[in-house]
Amino acid sequence: METANLDWSNIGFGYIPTDYNVRCYYRNGKWGEIEVSSSDMIPMHMAATCLHYGQEAFEGLKAYRGKDGKIRIFRIEANAARMQSTSEATLMATVPTELFVEMTKKVVSLNSRFVPPYGSGAVLYIRPLLLGTSAQLGVHPADEYLFMIFVSPAGPYFKGGFATNPYVVIREYDRAAPLGMGAYKVGGNYAASLRANTKAHELGYSCEFYLDSKEKKYIDEAGAANFFGIKNDTYITPASYSVLPSITNNSLQQVALDLGMKVEKRQIPIEELDTFEEAGACGTAAVISPIERIDDIETGKSYVIAKDGKPGPWCRKLYDELTGIQFGDREDKHGWVTILDEE
Ligand code: PLP
Ligand code: COI
Repeated sequence: METANLDWSNIGFGYIPTDYNVRCYYRNGKWGEIEVSSSDMIPMHMAATCLHYGQEAFEGLKAYRGKDGKIRIFRIEANAARMQSTSEATLMATVPTELFVEMTKKVVSLNSRFVPPYGSGAVLYIRPLLLGTSAQLGVHPADEYLFMIFVSPAGPYFKGGFATNPYVVIREYDRAAPLGMGAYKVGGNYAASLRANTKAHELGYSCEFYLDSKEKKYIDEAGAANFFGIKNDTYITPASYSVLPSITNNSLQQVALDLGMKVEKRQIPIEELDTFEEAGACGTAAVISPIERIDDIETGKSYVIAKDGKPGPWCRKLYDELTGIQFGDREDKHGWVTILDEE
């Protein structure tokens, strides 16, 4: 099939319409048939629990076109598992892994002309969405749910792609409470991050940087991405109850081990930033966004990590290896990639 007529090298991270999305409804205690839709709209009851009481979860993963023309989807099952944990935390119906995988493959196949060509730097972003749809006035879980997946071609999350970025510590707003929803992918966490993110941008930074919300002592997240620091050939990432368990971070820890690094998952006091040779923010959207510096404007301390302003050698190696696996250029030793059957 011919690819869509888009300026592949210049697409950003915005919504670009495609041909189809897929949907499945949960009613009377069970999931129904998979439906294919060409509408961008969702008919919705005005009292749906997703609109009032935050019964909403989403995921984000990507499909990549390889040099061989084949389409590869990265770690579908891991995204299914994370959505299941979000369902448990918000008392929403759980989407079985087989249904999640089948719908993901189907929506990518149906929109294969929107999977960008190899070498363009763009990919197909896949957005699964779970919504409580039945009407409630009282605060109770819904008994009907819609699980749907749409896709959109996407370029780099940060303009400039693989380059270092400055971050700023924000203490005045927390994105998540210590035993709250931080470890789950619910929309409310992103609403809670908007003020901090806007403030960071207004101050001239790429992104906000969060400390743990209880003591403000330890590193939590780098905006909507996980944090890792590197020193002495060791990849160090925070252990915290309020951080989203990033699938990119989990994959990078394995890749780091494969490349001969050591891996530590533990609390990281903010002062330790001074000791890192490299650091990065990681997530599906950005893969790795190397950190140039982290400014703590309240204490006046600036933790400069990339002294020459450039991504460091370990960040580059980790990035090349992970994206190599995703695009099919490097061996998929851990069985992370699902190759779509030819359309
Ligand atoms: N942290 C937050 C708050 C996120 O929204 C994301 C994005 O999904 C991540 C981390 C990175 O997670 P993943 O690597 O699974 O995309
Ligand atoms: C990520 O994929 O890393 C994200 O943070 C997704 C974002 C667009 C919510």
